[in-house]
Parts: sequence; C-alpha cells; structure tokens
Amino acid sequence: MPTLLDRYRTWRAFHRRDPALALLFAEWPWADGSEARLPGLLAPCRLPAGLLEAWLAQPGSGSAEAAARAGDHAGRPRLLLLGLAGRLAAKAGDEAAARQHFEAVDREAPRERWAYLALNHLLLPGPGHVRRLAEIVERRGAESYVEIGVSRGDSLLAVKPGRIAVGIDPRPRLAAAPPPGVRVFRETSDAFFARHDLAEVLGAPGFDVAFIDGLHLSEQALRDVGNLERQSGPRSLLLLHDTLPVTPGAASRRPMGPDWSGDVWKVIACLRRFRPDLDIVTLRAPPSGLTAVSRLDRSWDWTPARLAEMQSAMAALPDAPDWPLLLRETAAVANDDASLARLAGTISR
Ligand SMILES: C[S@@+](CC[C@H](N)C(=O)[O-])C[C@H]1O[C@@H](n2cnc3c(N)ncnc32)[C@H](O)[C@@H]1O
Repeated sequence: MPTLLDRYRTWRAFHRRDPALALLFAEWPWADGSEARLPGLLAPCRLPAGLLEAWLAQPGSGSAEAAARAGDHAGRPRLLLLGLAGRLAAKAGDEAAARQHFEAVDREAPRERWAYLALNHLLLPGPGHVRRLAEIVERRGAESYVEIGVSRGDSLLAVKPGRIAVGIDPRPRLAAAPPPGVRVFRETSDAFFARHDLAEVLGAPGFDVAFIDGLHLSEQALRDVGNLERQSGPRSLLLLHDTLPVTPGAASRRPMGPDWSGDVWKVIACLRRFRPDLDIVTLRAPPSGLTAVSRLDRSWDWTPARLAEMQSAMAALPDAPDWPLLLRETAAVANDDASLARLAGTISR
C-alpha cells in the first residue's frame, strides 16, 4: 500500500514545477482529463519543496496540526499548509472543516485557483452536469430540447433528444456545422423570444427539456425562466446551470473567468419564495450545480410589475452567500442516482 508520501513523490514527477500542489491533488480522482490542465493551472504556485516533505514524513500528521502550522507561516507556504489541512480533513470525512480551510485560502488569495478546484471536488462530488443533463434528457424520452448559452456545444451536442435540439447564443463557438436536427440561433435569448415563436421553431407546442446556461446574471436568468415557462407544456422540464457557486468569487456579478457562475442561484431562491406551486430541486453536480424546475404553468402572469418585484427580492439577497445558505435556498440534494431518478421523473401540470 503506497503511503501518502509515496503518492506525493509520484505526482511530483508529474508536477515538477509545483511539488506542493501535487500533494494537494494526488489522491483526487480526475475522471475528465483535467490532469492535463493541472501543470498550467498550478505553475504560478511556489513553495520550498522540503517543507511539506519533511512535515509529511512525520507520523501523526492531521488537519488540525497542519492548520496550526499554517499560522506559523506567511504567504504561499501558509496557503498551502491550509490546503493540506483541508485535504486531510476531507480525507477524514470532516466536510465542514475541510471547507473552512479551503475557503480561508480562497478568501486570502482568490487567485489561487486550486482552492476553487478543491472546494469543487469536496462540495460537489459525482458526475458532472453535462452527463447528468444528457441522462435526464434520455430518461424523460425527450423529443425536443432548448438550450440558452451554447458556447462550444459541449452540452448541446451531448444531449440526444429524439427529434430536435435548438441552441440560442449570440456568440456560439461550435467547431463544425451542427448535425441534422440541431439548430443554432445566433442571438441573445431576449432577442430570440422577441423574434420567434418557440412552438414554430420546434414544430410542436411546448418543449420537453430546456437548459438555461446563458448570461449568468440573475435578472437575465429570471427572464429566461419566464420566457420559457410561457412556452411550456404539460411535459416540460426546466434546468438551470450555475446554481451552486462554491466560492464568493464564482458567485459575484462580475465575470471572473471560466469558473464564473454569477448570481443565478438567486433566481432559485426567488422562485422558491414567489412560486410555491413549482417543484424545485438542485442536484449537487459539479462544477456548479444543476437545478430542475417542474410543474411549470404557461398561464402564470409574468408581468413587468411581477418581474420587478422578483428582481428587488433577488437584489436583497447576499452577494457572497455562504455554503449552508446556498444549499438551503436551492433545495440541494445529493448528486446520486436516487436524486436523478426523482428529478428526471417529475412532470409539469
Ligand atoms: C457557460 S457558456 C455555455 C456553455 C454550454 N452550455 C456548455 O455546457 O457547454 C455561456 C454562453 O452563454 C452565451 N450568452 C451570453 N449572454 C447570452 C444571452 N443573453 N443569451 C444567450 N446566450 C448568451 C455566451 O456567449 C456563452 O457562449
């Protein structure tokens, strides 16, 4: 059985430029090819290599001790020791302590992207949102699929509805022409709903599954929900991405790079207050959650006054939500097969 130190040495061979971070990531499963990106991500980190090695070689190391040692240091060594404390706490099954250590790193140095990745692995275990999305579409036997926010088409091309898929994005970046049955509209979601009748585009009223993953600002995502609910039918299911941001940076309204989720989570909190008639559940799927909304009502009155009232309620929510609050506000459930079955089985009125 290889020891932690053995594993560290193996991984250090891979992460030559950053031996300390090899340690932090050595035991985590990377099923999606992310390993190849790690050296680039971790390159900016520096730590005197001997420090962690010497410490790890000591018996009886634990997260509390690692955290205490972090207090003796400053700068990057302190951050990495906090990271190590988090990792050891996670290994011991203490999610709350692990989260606090990683959050401390993120707070002190939000540019240390590994803290975001560590929180992601810790708080959102299990299959990623694209796989879950494709499973939901398949389990529901969806004939039609609508996606707001297409980008390179990772999700649009992964789902396999029986008849038609429609993508909407002002700047789609598909590498090739979409396959038969897939139509991409190069415009914003607001422009699409102003110019087109979705039923006409789909060739039938209602949609089976719609996925909102466009502009990650709460007011826009709320409008997307309203526009889609107006077009919903008895079988329609609405899915929203980015409803569980794992760091305050990811949850901020200012775009901060590929991990940006924005404040879309506020839409879920708001719908749960204003729409007790909806069935809402959030799967803890990485990298940032997947919420399902069902029992949609196409006759619900999405007037400008209602929208304004909902937007004020969203503006009153905290801009840097803590994790327990997010789990509560979004009705989060484990990312397991039982939750998936529940989520995929729900029907609208
Ligand atoms: C996170 S990416 C979508 C990723 C994609 N769903 C996937 O999983 O592969 C967000 C996309 O939303 C698009 N977008 C931004 N504002 C939008 C809007 N108002 N309406 C529709 N799409 C928008 C961006 O151009 C970007 O391509």
